[in-house]
Amino acid sequence: MKNEADNKKSPSSNKLFPMACGEGPYNYAKNSNYQKTGWDLVKRLTSEKISKKLDVEHLISPGNLFRIADMGCSFGPNTFFAVQDIIEAVKSKQNKSKLMEFQVFFNDHSANDFNTLFRTLPSERSYFAAGVPGSFYGSLFPKASLHFVLSSYTIHWISKIPREVQDQSSPVWNKGRIFYGSSKKVEEAYAAQFANDFESFLRARAEEVVPGGFMTLLIPGTQNGANLLKCTSIAISELLGSSLMDMAKEGLVDEAKVDSFNIPIYYPSSEKVIAIVEKQGWFKIEQIQEIARPMIQQLSKQDIEKYALFVRGWAEVVVRDHFGVEIVDKIFNNFTEKLMKSGLLSDPSIAPAVDLFVLLMRTNN
Ligand SMILES: C[S@@+](CC[C@H](N)C(=O)[O-])C[C@H]1O[C@@H](n2cnc3c(N)ncnc32)[C@H](O)[C@@H]1O
Repeated sequence: MKNEADNKKSPSSNKLFPMACGEGPYNYAKNSNYQKTGWDLVKRLTSEKISKKLDVEHLISPGNLFRIADMGCSFGPNTFFAVQDIIEAVKSKQNKSKLMEFQVFFNDHSANDFNTLFRTLPSERSYFAAGVPGSFYGSLFPKASLHFVLSSYTIHWISKIPREVQDQSSPVWNKGRIFYGSSKKVEEAYAAQFANDFESFLRARAEEVVPGGFMTLLIPGTQNGANLLKCTSIAISELLGSSLMDMAKEGLVDEAKVDSFNIPIYYPSSEKVIAIVEKQGWFKIEQIQEIARPMIQQLSKQDIEKYALFVRGWAEVVVRDHFGVEIVDKIFNNFTEKLMKSGLLSDPSIAPAVDLFVLLMRTNN
């Protein structure tokens, strides 16, 4: 069985980046309203599919236990809302003569702040809770033991930066940049790593999810055929890269440090996701839909600062790990200033961020 311990023995480029925790203003729980709003936009779609397509009675028969796993749950509170919504949708289908019980497994890297997660579990919950540490790119559960898997804003985190992107002797070396938006070759290397990771994710879940079971994925992505530099999420990471290069020119950070830094995230298109799922055939695509996140027309200074905090919420740990804790405030302050001046968030030529809502059913294969 492949688990977190095995991951730690993998190449040194395999690092774990849980969301920032602690009591400070930059922790993920305080800066993840964007992700919460994303779930709110798709929870009705999930409930409708549960209502129409999930054969609850048959799935759990002959018992009455329904098992849900949230892969990459972080430490709250978004996971609690999503899990509750799923349970309510499933409950609305239950046979009144046989009341169901629910067990929820909260998965994330072992470095995740599970203490906060369990301390803040809703007291009124109607489920048994358990934590499952380990990378979701490996096996985490016994065979055919799950009825529903949820994973939101997670699988765009690739397990490692492609080797050639970091190799100074390679034509794909990403010098002076931290993301893949402006180089086709770097983008291809990232895409290959994403495909590899996503296949591992599906392979592991195919073992764990019972035939007929559901998997809901919410993946920040890009529109098919989009000009990458004109996609909000990619443009934002490129802007962080150029802010770091400005700091290198001013001597505030070492340029070689910027050259060796790359963000371990890939934003797939729905075409790429469909191709990978269909190639394997373990899951049937019940629904896949692009959800555009509307851009705000009249952005105030506070709106932009809030957006910069959202970026810091997911990027803090990766940046701190590479550049050191002493400089992290300066990096994000400079980025916030650059974001203000750039006008990027209200630029009509930049396409809104897109989330991919993907609902899969485990086949009998
Ligand atoms: C942006 S947070 C999303 C949290 C939550 N699902 C939500 O919607 O707010 C991404 C989470 O995925 C976790 N994650 C990323 N890669 C992972 C992996 N390979 N295995 C398990 N968790 C992972 C991170 O540790 C982090 O907590």
